[in-house]
Amino acid sequence: MLSDTKLNLLQQLVQSASKEEIIWTKGYLAGYLDKNLIGTQAPVIPVLESVAVKPLIIYGTETGNSKKIASQLLASFKKNKIQAKSIDVFQYDKAKLEKESLVLFVMSTQGEGEFPQNAVEFYEYIKSTSLDLSGTSYAVFGLGDSSYPLFCNAGVLLDEVLSQKGAKRLLPLVKADVDFAPDVLVWEKELQSVFKKEVVATNVASVVKGNTTEHKKNYKGIISTKIILNDVGSKKETYHIELSSEDEINYEPGDALGIIPKNSKNDVEFIIDYFELNSSTEITVKDQKNTVENWFLERNIKGLSKRSIEQLSVLLKEDIKFEKTDLIDVLKQYPNAKSIKIEDLISVLLPIAPRLYSISSSAEAHDGEVHLTVNLNKFKIGEVLKTGLASQFLADYPINTEIDFYIHKNQNFRLPSEETDIIMIGPGTGIAPFRSFIAHRDATGAEGKNWLFFGEQHFVLDFYYQTEIQEWITTGVLTKLDTAFSRDQEKKIYVQDRIREKANEFNKWIENGASLYICGQKNPMSIDVENAILDVLVQERNISLEEAKQVLEDLEVAGKYQKDVY
Ligand SMILES: Cc1cc2nc3c(=O)[nH]c(=O)nc-3n(C[C@H](O)[C@H](O)[C@H](O)COP(=O)(O)OP(=O)(O)OC[C@H]3O[C@@H](n4cnc5c(N)ncnc54)[C@H](O)[C@@H]3O)c2cc1C
Ligand SMILES: Cc1cc2nc3c(=O)[nH]c(=O)nc-3n(C[C@H](O)[C@H](O)[C@H](O)COP(=O)(O)O)c2cc1C
Repeated sequence: MLSDTKLNLLQQLVQSASKEEIIWTKGYLAGYLDKNLIGTQAPVIPVLESVAVKPLIIYGTETGNSKKIASQLLASFKKNKIQAKSIDVFQYDKAKLEKESLVLFVMSTQGEGEFPQNAVEFYEYIKSTSLDLSGTSYAVFGLGDSSYPLFCNAGVLLDEVLSQKGAKRLLPLVKADVDFAPDVLVWEKELQSVFKKEVVATNVASVVKGNTTEHKKNYKGIISTKIILNDVGSKKETYHIELSSEDEINYEPGDALGIIPKNSKNDVEFIIDYFELNSSTEITVKDQKNTVENWFLERNIKGLSKRSIEQLSVLLKEDIKFEKTDLIDVLKQYPNAKSIKIEDLISVLLPIAPRLYSISSSAEAHDGEVHLTVNLNKFKIGEVLKTGLASQFLADYPINTEIDFYIHKNQNFRLPSEETDIIMIGPGTGIAPFRSFIAHRDATGAEGKNWLFFGEQHFVLDFYYQTEIQEWITTGVLTKLDTAFSRDQEKKIYVQDRIREKANEFNKWIENGASLYICGQKNPMSIDVENAILDVLVQERNISLEEAKQVLEDLEVAGKYQKDVY
């Protein structure tokens, strides 16, 4: 606790500070705490040989956060007269790595502790090539989410492999959580100190810095309503789900809801019977005690990760060939699995990772509720039709039964000022955040114009929220609607075709300052849509493709082009 005088001083400081200054101060204090007051080992930093440092920033990203951080660092280095460059890991020529003198990595973690798709090849290359990186200094800024079992794992692996190959670690690995902004500021300051030789080091010990964020608030609520949005005959099964809680649920349009699903009782029973166990027997693994039933309800047994499959292969003394597979399929295929010690089996299974769903309601319009739009993930393995864990979990979840969830803030997907026009491209479940945007603008009387592109397979079967959307058209809150139902005619039509058809008007909206949003499937939808937008810019502005890409890049940097794709 602070003395009255100190508390007074702190309150004066906070009251007179801007939001940015408060964020900076939070980061500064967290960094100070980490370095000076927590832990026994202070980071040890080698001195750079050259005064004229020219850092190369290499980023690995899936949803753009790492890229944003790289751009922020670049801009700040330039301001400080430090010549830096920034590049996507995918575009970087790996053969040059041994010749680099100073590389700063910004690397997010995806899947179950995996590298972003664009960075997988780079990591495999460093790991499997006999490189001599003794002439290279580096630092890694790992981005992650502490709700996931393997927090910032890609950053950890990258930091380790670079050190193993002889590179000199300039700063301890940073493991930054979802609200990473303060950590970026601290890292930037620390780097600049190193560059200026202000910090003298004696060796390159490995110190992993913990994240500095508080834990997310977990809510307990119920699913009060669940409706299938498709009509009979549709190939899709998309659920409109309403959750409510006795606590006030704090969210904004653009945020997502996170859940940690559990395995189905049937799957768990199969495993328990297979090993002839008693479901209530208590088992201790890595100092954690749980009943057999709970272990298998809460560990990932579906779509096993590469790491789990490798460890299972060792236990089974078999070379399991699958890229991804379910534990039950392995048990069926290899009867000798019966001899595996149950503790050993449990220890190769990761805790189930959370899943996110864009919130499709608005706190202003749907008081005390959170709505989701969840597609039941269906896929075929050989002839067997399978479903995704979390989407099936939600589809099966009984009404009015307690469920745990949390809110995942998404500062990169936000409505602009009230008077700014918006263009929303959201086929399939991509409609979710836009239902939230429109409902919010409707409830708050925002003046900006709203243009929605929606698509699915069939008009009569798959037009999600059709009645509401038509109502919004009637009342005028939705200024324009363009739909593309791909399978209602012989030639498939998608939202990107509608964008091309409306090229002139689309470009005019952007020229007039509209903000652009894409939500839904990353591949191929968001790529095809982005290509259509580039075509529109090339055609309507009579510019080259390179120039059009720069226009989109500038819009993205200005926060006027935002994507939430998965
Ligand atoms: C920010 C964000 C917002 C999102 N918003 C929405 C939304 O509004 N609505 C929505 O429906 N979804 C949304 N998603 C996607 C959602 O989080 C889940 O990824 C999706 O529901 C699938 O999860 P699942 O657990 O059902 O499938 P999983 O079990 O995770 O399976 C996913 C995929 O893994 C593969 N797989 C799994 N098991 C096997 C196996 N045995 N063999 C081979 N391959 C396998 C299959 O390709 C399968 O399709 C969002 C995602 C993000 C990141
Ligand atoms: C599907 C999915 C899986 C994720 N898996 C992990 C994980 O295993 N560990 C982790 O620390 N963070 C995980 N994250 C969180 C991301 O690393 C985090 O959102 C990060 O800010 C994304 O940065 P990027 O936009 O540069 O990719 C995951 C996020 C998503 C959407």
